[in-house]
Amino acid sequence: MRTQVAIIGGGPSGLLLSQLLHRKGIESVVLERKTKDYVLGRIRAGILETGFVDLMREAGVSDRMEKESFIHDGTVITYEDTQFGINFSELTGKHVVVYGQTEVTRDLYDAREAMDGKIVFNSENVGIHDADGDAPYVTYSVEGTEHRLDCDFIAGCDGFHGVSRQTIPLTVRKEYEKLYPFGWLGVLSETPPVHEELIYSGSDRGFALCSMRNENLSRYYIQCSLSDSPDDWTDAAFWEELKRRIPDEFADQLVTGDSIEKSIAPLRSFVTEPMRWGRLFLCGDAAHIVPPTGAKGLNTAASDIHYLYNGLRQFYEDGESEGIDRYSEKALARIWKAERFSWSTTNLLHRFPKQNAFDLKMQQADVNFLRDNREAQSVFAQNYVGLPY
Ligand code: APR
Ligand code: PHB
Repeated sequence: MRTQVAIIGGGPSGLLLSQLLHRKGIESVVLERKTKDYVLGRIRAGILETGFVDLMREAGVSDRMEKESFIHDGTVITYEDTQFGINFSELTGKHVVVYGQTEVTRDLYDAREAMDGKIVFNSENVGIHDADGDAPYVTYSVEGTEHRLDCDFIAGCDGFHGVSRQTIPLTVRKEYEKLYPFGWLGVLSETPPVHEELIYSGSDRGFALCSMRNENLSRYYIQCSLSDSPDDWTDAAFWEELKRRIPDEFADQLVTGDSIEKSIAPLRSFVTEPMRWGRLFLCGDAAHIVPPTGAKGLNTAASDIHYLYNGLRQFYEDGESEGIDRYSEKALARIWKAERFSWSTTNLLHRFPKQNAFDLKMQQADVNFLRDNREAQSVFAQNYVGLPY
């Protein structure tokens, strides 16, 4: 089989790229290791920057999102007895959109299927060959049968545990990583959100986040130990702990209910450089991970797709390779800023095992500065709504 762009991974990065390319008449094939149900079963964050929303519009997949999403003009931050809001619209003229990543992925699958997009599920043993030459190809097997896909370019959209990044030789690849000594325990419940805006909360018992998907679907998180397992936490214990970490005015109003999903995610910052090797381009989680504190995971994937899509368009439409040649440089410039924001917001609001009394005073001073200083709030807001592409 032959295609123009072989896309490894059918998560949001791979699907969005495939859909955008299709609209410009550029062919692609998506190789996904799992089934569609498996991919759609993963619960991820739900805050979209307007840059991401624009890309979904450009991809022609924004109809349901326009109807079912919610605009958020600001967020609440609390830290022990300190509580304040940051008004994104006032400070930046922009907002964010609440729409779950699962829904984004579902809309992309629906669109690809409606257009007969080629997605090969259950693709095993994906191997990338000759990516540093002029005639790259990908091999894979489905139900024991080997296949070969020849292509012009390969997009490695296969997440943190994929094969694409590993294909780049260690003599070329440099990885930067920071592991945090805690995780987030997340609960999804069919209950009304405790507040109309998200609440990011630092407390002496650790971080908590009150988020949502819609009027009757809430998403809550608490910082937990890396040795915890979701089964260690009954629903009652989770609600009790969440209430202790948010201000009383919210705790008193919190509507609790059965969890419909409960999981723990470790927190990690990670970037690999470069994001291009010959005709292989890394996108999304395959190239970088952020801790979820700034909701940047999906949004950083989207900016990669923006740069790669435009580079490939330029190549096929104008025979110009400037866009793909500068892909890694442009993508990384934006990624490192999102890494910085996610890392600093994580540091601002979490409890770290080795923090001493001085460290805690510094954290409180950072929070107070953000509360009292409009420029600091503006910097936070610019980062939260998304830096320009
Ligand atoms: N072969 C084929 N597919 C693979 C392979 C492989 N060897 N390895 C992984 N995959 C698939 C996974 O099954 C998954 O569906 O690649 C997909 C990668 O999807 P994501 O992990 O969702 O990554 P990405 O599309 O870059 O999305 C980034 O989603 O994961 C979140 O936090 C992340 O919000 C961010 C966004
Ligand atoms: C979520 O709704 O899952 C969510 C929102 C904001 C974050 C992280 C996760 O910073």
